[in-house]
Amino acid sequence: MTESSAIERAYRKATPKSAELIERAARVMPGGNTRTASFYPPYPVVIERGDGPWVWDVDGRRYVDMFCNGLSLIHGHNYAPVRAAIEAALPRGTAWAGASRDQVAYAELLTQRLPALERVRFTNSGSEAAMIAVKAARHFTGRPCILKFTGAYHGSYPDLEAGLYGQADIPGRAFTARFNDIEGIERVMSKHGHEIAAIVVEPVLVTGRVAAPQPGFLSQVQSLARRYQALTVLDDCLMLRLAVGGSAAKFGLQPDLVMLGKFLGGARPSVRSADGPTSWKCSIPRGRAACFTAAPSTATPSAAPQGS
Ligand SMILES: Cc1ncc(COP(=O)(O)O)c(C=O)c1O
Repeated sequence: MTESSAIERAYRKATPKSAELIERAARVMPGGNTRTASFYPPYPVVIERGDGPWVWDVDGRRYVDMFCNGLSLIHGHNYAPVRAAIEAALPRGTAWAGASRDQVAYAELLTQRLPALERVRFTNSGSEAAMIAVKAARHFTGRPCILKFTGAYHGSYPDLEAGLYGQADIPGRAFTARFNDIEGIERVMSKHGHEIAAIVVEPVLVTGRVAAPQPGFLSQVQSLARRYQALTVLDDCLMLRLAVGGSAAKFGLQPDLVMLGKFLGGARPSVRSADGPTSWKCSIPRGRAACFTAAPSTATPSAAPQGS
């Protein structure tokens, strides 16, 4: 028996209830899993509950959670102030179509905290914020394409999957360049700048391998975008944590649009935002916002003080 099969045998022996549930899941969900990022062979454990840094599987085994739902659970699981805020909000209803006091207060809190934000639009996920940011940039500039970095993950909007999963540029939609390669970006901009609505950048590349920006790189990207009258979209879904004012404050940037997400949801899904300066806010294209973008049950815990 090889070492790996011994490990697998021990794993299967320790996790029979997960095996059974994942088999059932495969009959009703493609691949037996919706959170594909946490799938691993032969099958992932099924989680029963989480508390602080721990999660327990359905077989009663306890694990340290090193993933924390893609770094969105900055306070760990079942954080008492978040739970209390959700419990306090629920009796007033879970979601309605319209603004709430909590949503207004939360937008105010964000704009006070982040100098780069003038106004906020709430979305259900980072992916949706990315899609709306690109849609707004295209609408504002009248240009069809975006430029993004190879290997950079901005969610599941197809145009932002250029440079991922073995894909290169997407003709007529997206160009790619290498992170930290300012000459490469300049080459793309000098040839296609008139087609490019925005450069989308995560300030520290995290997906796959972590790559910090070389000194001055992000400011040069912003200057290049401006030179070609394209917008700069800063994806701060993860890197907001670099400073109280986010990575724009840390790196001295003035992005046109900022995407936020992850831990801002107070360890709850459904609170994400995209921002744009007042001057062109009226240019956000018409279209319906999604059903849960005004949900008081998410805005409330997010606006509540959480000790961070
Ligand atoms: C940098 C970055 N942008 C965007 C997203 C997409 O966010 P969501 O999973 O909420 O759609 C992620 C998610 O991992 C991310 O890491």
